[in-house]
Amino acid sequence: MTVPRPPEPIPGARLLFSLDPSVSHLNHGSFGAVPIAVQRAQQRLRDEMESNPLRFFTQGLVDRIAHARRHLATFLGADPDGTALVGNVTAAAAVVLQSLALRPGDEVVTTDHGYGAVALSVARECARTGAVSRTLPVPLSATDEELVEIVRDGLRPGRTRLLIVDQLTSPTARLFPTSALVAAAREQGVPVLVDAAHAPGMLPTTVASVGADFWVGNLHKWAYAPRGTAALVVAERWRGRIQPLVVSWEQDAGFPTRVEWQATLDYTGWLAAPVGLFTLRSLGVDRVRAHNAALAAYGQRVVGDALGVAPERLPEPGGPAVAMRLVPLPPGVATTMDAARELRARIADRLGAEVSVAGWNGRGYLRLCGQVYNTPEEYDRLAVRLPTLLARG
Ligand SMILES: Cc1ncc(COP(=O)(O)O)c(C=O)c1O
Repeated sequence: MTVPRPPEPIPGARLLFSLDPSVSHLNHGSFGAVPIAVQRAQQRLRDEMESNPLRFFTQGLVDRIAHARRHLATFLGADPDGTALVGNVTAAAAVVLQSLALRPGDEVVTTDHGYGAVALSVARECARTGAVSRTLPVPLSATDEELVEIVRDGLRPGRTRLLIVDQLTSPTARLFPTSALVAAAREQGVPVLVDAAHAPGMLPTTVASVGADFWVGNLHKWAYAPRGTAALVVAERWRGRIQPLVVSWEQDAGFPTRVEWQATLDYTGWLAAPVGLFTLRSLGVDRVRAHNAALAAYGQRVVGDALGVAPERLPEPGGPAVAMRLVPLPPGVATTMDAARELRARIADRLGAEVSVAGWNGRGYLRLCGQVYNTPEEYDRLAVRLPTLLARG
């Protein structure tokens, strides 16, 4: 079987990170990795904060956050006035859910490719308000057209108060046709929240082109920002209704400041986040995207090959820029969340490789990412050693 050639490495890129060189870090998607320059920038801001906390918090911090927000929103192709910085996508989704003021009889519709913690948040908000949630099953092999049809048929105008779809799904690494899904929901008057946790830095799509009512994305994954840096983008007609999870002193300032200002927190990550974009731009955004997607595709093929998965049975991500790819595990392996966690830990301990493992609809999947610090040899090594590890059970 011929495996596609891996991409040319980006020389020196690994040295930008402080990752343990004895480990293959093949799971950038879960928690990202912060370049050393970004860590240093955040540390400098922390030093400034600790040199005079009163001055740091009371003299200009709100404006500095607004400045960082405008810069980050512009990179995302979002309206800066409709963008709030938040700690992470999980929090951003919770802000939207509790701002909707759901009532008994309302429903929130999701798909079975959605992120687990967001699904738990939907469940809690529904339990609290008397609304219900409905999960639409979408086969892994569904085409974009089929996917849009499933979602269109699954909405109940007048009852469905929110549709949540993921731009790039976590358990299945599948690119959803978000603009088409938003358009289908809009025909029926259903608002849409797009969970774009992986989009910033990885996907070329702008937030404006998705056209969602609510768009939430992490900058701390593929945009090299310090952890705790995410964006909540809200369409104009909803902005007045958005309430923060925690009310603080900027409550009367309205959106977005009332959402951003959450009392005494460490905001230095947001202020350092532009250095992440600077790093990405210095490497070349398009070059990084092409490299990472090609490397993930290479990894999928070599590991899939080692596990005896025919190339046509390797799930297609749905677009060229996707830097996360799935490899189906043998039937019966890692089919539950506990078994998936156990296998992930075993691969880390025994093979020195950090990967994501998830059970989805009765099948276990390995998810491999590509990043500028990865090399083809890391996937080759995993491919050589994984079959034996799985055979030992
Ligand atoms: C699709 C999706 N949504 C939400 C999240 C949650 O991100 P965070 O932990 O930053 O809130 C993730 C994290 O991997 C994700 O993949």
